[in-house]
Amino acid sequence: MANSREHLIGLLLGAETDWPRAFETLAARMGVITDGASTQHRISTERVTIEPFNLRDKPRQDLVIDRLAHWYYHPREWLKKVALMDDVYLLNSPFTFQSMEKHSAYCALLRLGMHVPETVLVPYKNPVDNVRWAYTSEKYNKSFDLDQVADGIGYPMFMKPFDGGAWRGVSMIKDPTDLHAAYNDSGEMLMHLQKAVDGFEVFARALTIGPETMVMKFQPDEPMHDRYAVEHGFLSEGVGTEAVTIAQTVNAFFRWEFNSCEMLVKDGVVYPIDYANACPDVAVTSLHYYFPWAMKALLKWSVFCVATDRKARTQVDTDPWFAVADDPALDYGGKLAAYQALANDHFETERYREFCDTALPHLDEMVLEWVDSDDFRAMLTSTIQQTYPPQEWDRFEGHFGGLTGMWVKDETARLAGVG
Ligand SMILES: Nc1ncnc2c1ncn2[C@@H]1O[C@H](COP(=O)(O)OP(=O)(O)O)[C@@H](O)[C@H]1O
Ligand SMILES: [Mg+2]
Repeated sequence: MANSREHLIGLLLGAETDWPRAFETLAARMGVITDGASTQHRISTERVTIEPFNLRDKPRQDLVIDRLAHWYYHPREWLKKVALMDDVYLLNSPFTFQSMEKHSAYCALLRLGMHVPETVLVPYKNPVDNVRWAYTSEKYNKSFDLDQVADGIGYPMFMKPFDGGAWRGVSMIKDPTDLHAAYNDSGEMLMHLQKAVDGFEVFARALTIGPETMVMKFQPDEPMHDRYAVEHGFLSEGVGTEAVTIAQTVNAFFRWEFNSCEMLVKDGVVYPIDYANACPDVAVTSLHYYFPWAMKALLKWSVFCVATDRKARTQVDTDPWFAVADDPALDYGGKLAAYQALANDHFETERYREFCDTALPHLDEMVLEWVDSDDFRAMLTSTIQQTYPPQEWDRFEGHFGGLTGMWVKDETARLAGVG
């Protein structure tokens, strides 16, 4: 008789409803899968609820996809407990995302030799709320000339919080007037000044889930529903590969599993500017055409992790990365190749692909069938109705229906071998 195992994937959610419903539907439609050793795996999903927990409680989940702990601390502490005590696999782990924010990511990528724009961290504008602040600041805060710091970077530049997220507190600085206004407004936020990549040709946003990366053309000035352009081949082959390597390097280095990485491309140089997003946007109303890809990648990676008992590691191991970074024999291209190899090791990319071929050969067809179904359309309609006012419903039915319909057409052709 075949070996049989059960796995529970927990979803720790905030206000999102669209992608969880998609993920749950696809997991249920996937059915029982059989791996290369003829073991059968039955995957179920469940939404995690928030309630008192005893630190000795045993969780039922094997893996949790977290979308909440970046702002809600009770479930964050539960995640830490189940990671430390019960080996629950997390997408993402608060041990790496809380301790390693945007600033740390800039530092790491600089050390790895990537083209992070010139960046300076300036001290808080307003006093820190602590009784020791007055004495400490009088004794140790060195007075500085903000204009001189800015001149050293050069205009235009961006002022943005060191830990970033959702464009909160980000401003474009064109001259000293903007500079002082933005610094005065920064108040209790700790700010970076970063040289603008002015006149960039492409804004590439790479969504990465495990070893799967989709590099998309992003239009930051458009409204949310139009930010991801459906365009293939907008990067040269070399730049496209570099973008994938940078995104996977960031994740493998920090042990992030589910993240988006923003890069600006100018004159063939890739400048990574933002790559610590603990809860990357995967709404169908943002990703539209790319939504089926994201759901499929999330499902495949989660199933791979539980079915192969992938071990969660919560701490960063910088040694192998810095050995490459500090190797004088390697140029930038040589380092990128070495980082990609380390990322492939970390994500077990080859084993993952084999697993997908063996245990999930039906997944492409299954996802296509669902996205082409009335059930998907009902999910899309209810998301549109929750997101937009009634007078916009028809327009967005057309917009998102058209884009996901285009994916169905392209995917049908791809699977028939003519795409
Ligand atoms: N160095 C830069 N050069 C050009 N544009 C930038 C730069 N830094 C930020 N921006 C613009 O500001 C936006 C928000 O900055 P980002 O670092 O992504 O912060 P957040 O973490 O809030 O998303 C970016 O999407 C981009 O449009
Ligand atoms: Mg950003």
